[in-house]
Amino acid sequence: MVLGMSETLTILGLESSCDDTAAAIVRKSTGTAPEILSSVVHGQNDLHAAFGGVVPEIAARAHAEKLDISVEEALAESGIKLSEIDAIAVTAGPGLIGGVLSGVMCAKGLAAGLGIPLVGVNHLAGHALTPRLTDQVAYPYLMLLVSGGHCQFLIARGPDEFTRLGGTIDDAPGEAFDKTARLLGLPQPGGPSVETVARSGDPKRFAFPRPLMDRPGCDLSFSGLKTALLRARDAIIAEKGGLTEQDRADLCASFQEAVVDVLRKKTERALKEYLALSPDNPVLAVAGGVAANSAIRAGLETVCAKYQTQFTAPPLKLCTDNAAMIAYAGLERFQAGHQDDMHLAARPRWPLDKRAPAMLGSGKKGAKA
Ligand code: KG4
Ligand code: ZN
Repeated sequence: MVLGMSETLTILGLESSCDDTAAAIVRKSTGTAPEILSSVVHGQNDLHAAFGGVVPEIAARAHAEKLDISVEEALAESGIKLSEIDAIAVTAGPGLIGGVLSGVMCAKGLAAGLGIPLVGVNHLAGHALTPRLTDQVAYPYLMLLVSGGHCQFLIARGPDEFTRLGGTIDDAPGEAFDKTARLLGLPQPGGPSVETVARSGDPKRFAFPRPLMDRPGCDLSFSGLKTALLRARDAIIAEKGGLTEQDRADLCASFQEAVVDVLRKKTERALKEYLALSPDNPVLAVAGGVAANSAIRAGLETVCAKYQTQFTAPPLKLCTDNAAMIAYAGLERFQAGHQDDMHLAARPRWPLDKRAPAMLGSGKKGAKA
């Protein structure tokens, strides 16, 4: 279905692939910018806090409980009635399978009950299309996805057309921030706490590794970094019997600087590759929870300035997991003629670039590619 002269589409989106249960309503009329009418997110941090990571079974059960409530809240917040919804978009992967299944089942029930179309959405495509939702960025553009579960460079050419230039071969940066926080006794999620503590630290005190820096290509690695941090921490404890505030701050600052260096260098490589292919659209967009980090943002902005490239980062609420991005990606897919039926499957893995080789590993938040 293609949006006609003065057509309006109202999409209800559902997201439950990790530890956020979310529902949102997005509306788009021909020739106008898309509008987020409501976006509800119920996090599960409290449920998983005691376990030091997301427990898939607990997450799935909580999603099943919270999905209906989230849909009701999204409807109430938007003032839209269920009968006004044109299609249901739902994250069908990649992610923790129990959670994805909860969302897909809920979406199937709603679509069947209302007699309206169902559109399965790739969670990563949701993140990758967010710059179009927030800033109407035109295709193609270069995308850096950095979160607790993902880290990849993608060229976005259409709602179903992505080329992956590279990605992490082990941990995602958010995971590395979370582990660093855990090793230093800082609260979760680790990203914001490490960033805050790093402000009063010396980034040069510890020379942490910058893995894969000298290798060609855009692949990244972050697992060696936490091992180096662990060793540095243990060396201080062995020598002085404990960590001072300053030790902690210096460890955080040195760790963060290593992440910034790696991301900056690899982004420069990816940008060069992208600009060689699409010199007319110099745009780099970043999304994912780690994009909230101001040192990382500043590093990426420097690279963009060097190559006269526009830098866009969605507002934080839309960088982290949410359902508005799923509703919007579903809207684009639907407009492009895609529709699913009751056979829509929940997929733990679902690479965006069908031609790229599978990435290694599966983080605490599910599959990375
Ligand atoms: O996108 P997101 O909400 O969830 C997924 O992983 O899909 O990202 C969460 C991750 C966590 O690992 C968190 O520590 C990290 O993003 N994060 C940050 C910052 N804020 C959140 N990492 C570095 N600096 C931050 N300011
Ligand atoms: Zn995500």
